[in-house]
Amino acid sequence: MISVDSLFSPMAGQMKPYSPIEPPDQIAKRLGLPEAAIVKLDANENPFGTSPKVLKALSDGKYYHIYPDPAQAQLRSAIALYAGVKPENVVAGTGADELIDLCCRLLLEPGDKVLGFSPTFGYYSHVIALNRGVYVTAPREADFGISLEKAKALDLTGVKLVILCSPNNPSGTLVAPELVDWFLSKNLVVMVDEAYFEFCGQTVVEKVQNHPNLVVLRTFSKCFALAGFRVGYGVMGETLAQGLMRIKPPYSVSVPAEVALLAALADLDHYRAQVAQLVAIRESTLARLKAFAALTPSPSGSNFILCKVTGYPAKDLRDQLEQQGILVRYFDTPELRGYIRISMGTAPQMNRFFAALGRLLGP
Ligand SMILES: Cc1ncc(COP(=O)(O)O)c(C=O)c1O
Repeated sequence: MISVDSLFSPMAGQMKPYSPIEPPDQIAKRLGLPEAAIVKLDANENPFGTSPKVLKALSDGKYYHIYPDPAQAQLRSAIALYAGVKPENVVAGTGADELIDLCCRLLLEPGDKVLGFSPTFGYYSHVIALNRGVYVTAPREADFGISLEKAKALDLTGVKLVILCSPNNPSGTLVAPELVDWFLSKNLVVMVDEAYFEFCGQTVVEKVQNHPNLVVLRTFSKCFALAGFRVGYGVMGETLAQGLMRIKPPYSVSVPAEVALLAALADLDHYRAQVAQLVAIRESTLARLKAFAALTPSPSGSNFILCKVTGYPAKDLRDQLEQQGILVRYFDTPELRGYIRISMGTAPQMNRFFAALGRLLGP
């Protein structure tokens, strides 16, 4: 009998699976609750759902039987207009996740280092390991910011790529432009992950014009409510863009995803109104969380809030909220074991969250 796993590469053999989010219908089944009882505040999605104009465009689509354009001509033009750059500066992919992978594939030889600042988005470590890179992390400060002083003192020998997530997932913290400038002055590529850019409006995208070593990542999964379509993009200098276009799978953005994205970009006012609502909900949620003695929420530039839990195990709080159908995120890592992350839902959803929280933690 052949033992197939002995044929796996050592890297793949040792790899732990990326811990995904459980779909809400499965959670409802597991908990014995109706699906309508589930309030999903665990994956930073847009709680208002897919826009009616996107749904209409999808039902009108005519070209689902043919392959998408591998050169992404229409997509790149539409995204470029939105991001304020040229189409040659844009590469789209199957979510920002694919762009992170493609950048690693483009840049890394086995053993090359990638620098990140923890805690941050968990997928980086997974995809760097898959690309046989070495992920080195420097700790963030107590407020989850990154100290420029300390960053300047870091040894960058062997570092090919620096990843700066802004706003940072899971803390919501913004990266100072001076920090980006510092790393841009080094002989390495700087990836600024702006997946949640729309919720803070702060970007370094304009730096792409003068810095060929900058990649800015964005996604249609959050503000644009298209997480299920899997589409994201990178903005970068033309040389990096040409490199990524050369190595990317030809058809990774599907025709329906392209239809959805073009319809979304033609309806920006709709999303601006939703972002304004979610930002207002974020600020009121911050104040409401502060009213609980056990909770210390961090200010956030995003559509989620990281919240420290004292005197009550954060994992138990997550589990007990889940029993009531309220899903929030808990990260089982040494840095984040005392925290939960709450994505912003609609106002009625947040009221249900606070009602459940009140039942557990008292008024
Ligand atoms: C910081 C950050 N970057 C990238 C992604 C991936 O986004 P996408 O859905 O476009 O792959 C996420 C998703 O949660 C994220 O939080």
